[in-house]
Amino acid sequence: MKCLSFAWILLAAFPVMAQPNPADAFEQNRKLGRGVNIIGYDPLWRSREQGRFQAKHFRLLKEAGFNSVRVNLHAFRHMDRNADWALRTAWWETLDWAVTNATSQGLMVILDLHEFNAIGEDPEGHKDRFLAFWRQVSARFQSAPNSVVFEILNEPCKKLTPPLWNVWLREALALIREKNPTRTVIAGPAFWNSVDHLNELELPAADRNLIATVHYYKPMAFTHQGAGWTGQKDKLGVDWQGAPEELEAIRRDFDKAAAWARAQNRPVLLGEFGAYDKAAMDARARYLTAVTRAAEARGWSWAYWQFDSDFILWDMKRDAWVEPILKALIPAGAKPGAR
Ligand code: BGC
Repeated sequence: MKCLSFAWILLAAFPVMAQPNPADAFEQNRKLGRGVNIIGYDPLWRSREQGRFQAKHFRLLKEAGFNSVRVNLHAFRHMDRNADWALRTAWWETLDWAVTNATSQGLMVILDLHEFNAIGEDPEGHKDRFLAFWRQVSARFQSAPNSVVFEILNEPCKKLTPPLWNVWLREALALIREKNPTRTVIAGPAFWNSVDHLNELELPAADRNLIATVHYYKPMAFTHQGAGWTGQKDKLGVDWQGAPEELEAIRRDFDKAAAWARAQNRPVLLGEFGAYDKAAMDARARYLTAVTRAAEARGWSWAYWQFDSDFILWDMKRDAWVEPILKALIPAGAKPGAR
């Protein structure tokens, strides 16, 4: 019964049931355009009734000019160790809801496995679950349109060292390609997807339907001021003025990544960037303007960190955009879907 009802959802949402045409990774990246990270920390995964993110938010994102959403999946806690790590029905229903709603608004969807902390602490202890996740997700979405793309793992880090990550990503990609030979797949360097570690990333050369991703939070003293999880809880009051040397630092980092991408002939997604809510709003807006425009100038797509929870773009209490952040990300006059 469950299978039947899911098939129906797929049919309704994705009329093209045959394998989609091969997608050009650069064209796919252009379509990812301007995006936002969503629902990683939303209680909707525990219970839909408690959800903060609602169907209307997909529409609001589209109307504001965004092209894509990066759905952050903390999936491990929803996998059943007694059933070959099967993902639970309620989790699938929530994911189907998100993918169907985003897709029907014309938004591209990145399915991003966000279990970087657990895997980084103990890669071997989590390898089965990591592969079981991709085995199931790639089977489930094999008939989804090209607008659904997979990101193998957010911010590989710690014990998932650059050489080990290169092995893992190759293995996961081979598994994904069994059922999704034409789906665009995203992967970035180890060391938290840092721009400084792109050189250590080895993407399988023969697979041209890949997008390379990097994250950018430099300078950390500014972007993570007040953030307990990076040991900066009491380090507040750091400004970012957009001074020539500050802009130059971004330019240098992005040019280095762009040079790598040119040499490898890979498109780039800036999959996370932002400045935590404890920084002054005007400085955050200046910083976001500089980072997004620098990414766009190099033909990269981007996804802001994040819609709700922290670094917020949408204020759930006021039921309204955080205007300075929105205006910095999407400059006035930008048409929905246009770049
Ligand atoms: C993590 C978040 C964190 C953000 C910025 C993300 O990848 O999932 O927990 O807030 O990076 O540090």
